[in-house]
Amino acid sequence: MKPEKHVLVIDDEDNIRKILGAMLTQEGYGVDEARNLSEAKAILKASEIQVVICDLRIGREDGLSFLRWMKEDRQSQPVIILTAHGTVDTAVDAMKQGAFDYLAKPFERSELLSVIRKALLTFQYHEGSRIKTIPAGTPQLSMIGQSGKMQRIYQLIEKVAPTDTTVLITGDSGTGKELVAQALHDFSPRKDKPFIKINCAAIPGTLMESELFGYEKGAFTGANGSKPGRFELADKGTLFLDEIGEMSMEMQVKLLRVLQEKTFERVGGLRSISVDVRLIAATNRDLEQLVKEERFRGDLFYRLNVVPVHLPPLRERPDDIPKLARFFVNKFSERLKKLEPSISPEALELLTQFPWPGNIRQLENVIERLMVIHDDGIIQPDHLPEEILEFEEERFRKTQEAPNSLKDVVKDYTRKIEKKMIEEALSDTSHNVTQAARKLNISRKGLQLKMKELGLR
Ligand SMILES: Nc1ncnc2c1ncn2[C@@H]1O[C@H](COP(=O)(O)OP(=O)(O)OP(=O)(O)O)[C@@H](O)[C@H]1O
Ligand SMILES: [Mg+2]
Repeated sequence: MKPEKHVLVIDDEDNIRKILGAMLTQEGYGVDEARNLSEAKAILKASEIQVVICDLRIGREDGLSFLRWMKEDRQSQPVIILTAHGTVDTAVDAMKQGAFDYLAKPFERSELLSVIRKALLTFQYHEGSRIKTIPAGTPQLSMIGQSGKMQRIYQLIEKVAPTDTTVLITGDSGTGKELVAQALHDFSPRKDKPFIKINCAAIPGTLMESELFGYEKGAFTGANGSKPGRFELADKGTLFLDEIGEMSMEMQVKLLRVLQEKTFERVGGLRSISVDVRLIAATNRDLEQLVKEERFRGDLFYRLNVVPVHLPPLRERPDDIPKLARFFVNKFSERLKKLEPSISPEALELLTQFPWPGNIRQLENVIERLMVIHDDGIIQPDHLPEEILEFEEERFRKTQEAPNSLKDVVKDYTRKIEKKMIEEALSDTSHNVTQAARKLNISRKGLQLKMKELGLR
């Protein structure tokens, strides 16, 4: 089968091209290779390329000038920059010049594949919108994280986004549920139509019905005019029901009816309205459990849970923490117009160890707070908030108390036996040290020392 997706690899080193070529071909991508920029430009003009991987240094040329050429020539393919280990700063420059992402050598196969996958998604999005230059502010898949768990999420988004299937996104608070909902919309054919969100926890039960379905004039006191609901606003687009677990039983019945019959009426209205809406729901609750407790309708649950997407808590993907932390440091230094500091390896280690009960949102908040007070230079452990330092101290204390080494155990055990034997000998000899020493076959002096050591006086 002819590969549908083509990657252009630009590097003057044969080895790198060979390795990348092999990894990508194995995954079913078509691979074109260029040894210098003029070859690369020629290939880009002549063939269909979806993603470019470009080394930062190609002989005497460099990746940054290639990025500039891409921009001038209105080439819209995402470019992934390859950098040598330790030149991350230049990589960040490259991102500012429009690179899609960077890969630091040596990289893992899984890292490569997930960057490529994200780049392809982005490219498909821009192609779909038929705009050759990428307008500022258009969505990229703005999710950071290369862990296996995140890759499975990207794969799911890639598969499910183009369909009209209902998706139920679950995961703890701050794991990125809303980001996934947005991505499902942004990468769908509905992307130019509205993405309407409603937070079921924030709207009181009594208002929920009119919020969702709208109302007609005079429907209730205060209804001086008529108003469309979110279902109508989301027509041809996507409706995102956030925190669906908080929806009242009464509203659940009404929602289910609409999903089954595909029509509804505004509150106080008679006209039946039908809309074309793609539904996405999210919750941090265990809906199956709520169904068991009869606090959530089973039939509604099954209607929503057509494709489940579960976002793992951050502590289950610690590999993603360094990249997320750097991403937020970059984000807030730009926002606060500060020089971007680097994070010391020790501070990064503490961030990676921390269990992050508030997940990515908590990490984001911690970095934001830190950047507001941070003046310049490197971020060190003592710049980190109290909660992280305390956690580290606690962890350290536990390792101190933790099961001892074999040597310690033997020592401890020996002491106990010695103590017991000496006590017995002493009691047998009515505390006559000389006789007890003879019994134990050691010198009197030796016994006295031992007794002192073991606190037997
Ligand atoms: N993979 C990611 N990469 C970068 N930023 C992320 C990622 N996941 C989440 N975020 C950021 O973390 C914050 C929390 O994400 P989001 O609001 O999507 O979480 P949520 O699961 O909806 O949380 P809640 O249950 O509290 O509503 C947002 O600012 C979001 O941009
Ligand atoms: Mg949310």
